[in-house]
Amino acid sequence: MNSAIQKGESDLQNYPFIDELIMSRRTKRGFLDTPVNIETVKEILSAAKYAPSSSNTQPWRCYVVTGAARERVTTAAVDAFRAGPELLAPEYAFFPDKMHEPYASRFTTFRSLLGDAQGVHRSDKVGRMRDVERQFLFFDAPVGLIFTMDRRLEWASFICYGCFIQNIMLAAKGRGLDTCPQQIWSLQAPVLRAELGIPQDEMVIAGMSLGYADNSMAENNMSLHKVQVEEFTSFIDA
Ligand SMILES: Cc1cc2nc3c(=O)[nH]c(=O)nc-3n(C[C@H](O)[C@H](O)[C@H](O)COP(=O)(O)O)c2cc1C
Repeated sequence: MNSAIQKGESDLQNYPFIDELIMSRRTKRGFLDTPVNIETVKEILSAAKYAPSSSNTQPWRCYVVTGAARERVTTAAVDAFRAGPELLAPEYAFFPDKMHEPYASRFTTFRSLLGDAQGVHRSDKVGRMRDVERQFLFFDAPVGLIFTMDRRLEWASFICYGCFIQNIMLAAKGRGLDTCPQQIWSLQAPVLRAELGIPQDEMVIAGMSLGYADNSMAENNMSLHKVQVEEFTSFIDA
């Protein structure tokens, strides 16, 4: 095995800069109210746009919400959620109806770690509602991003989009900022169309919270298991 793969994250300083950046990016679910300069957001997007895309099609379309627009969107999203969580539907399927192994175990392990960190038990309906609401408040981050894609595009464009979103998260991390990528925002497509004028032919893929993380919060210090390279890779040499 490549010795670099065996090192723990505590050895981050021994990695090339880009590996350090990749491994130090973690999803954050609580942010400080420290403002983020809009010029910094533009710089991040200017770097992220160098993401590869099938035949350079660049399928991304972003809406950046700050200030009063952010207030408007988060208020409307929380209202919609409170009015009828069961009425909110994503614009594309998130998971299969019945999750199978090994994904089912990974999913439930993650959910239970997050619940423990947030101090919310599975049976605590009110607590769980409150935590979902925090998603729609961008976890208090001062910048919210909404990502849409022309709905006539195909699956390949989702791969391109993933590259773009990862670039945003890394460019943010390199500037001392943190992120939470949030597919849950797809549930709020009607609200986002009304508040931001997003046309029907754009599918709401995801959102993202962007800001300075509050690292005193337990949910921002979770230790997640990442499967070993050998578990997801076949090295074939003959
Ligand atoms: C496509 C995608 C969608 C995600 N959607 C959400 C979301 O809606 N809400 C959320 O809290 N986290 C979301 N996440 C974050 C994942 O839960 C997180 O990446 C995963 O648990 C691994 O944690 P890490 O990013 O710290 O390695 C999403 C991540 C990805 C890549």
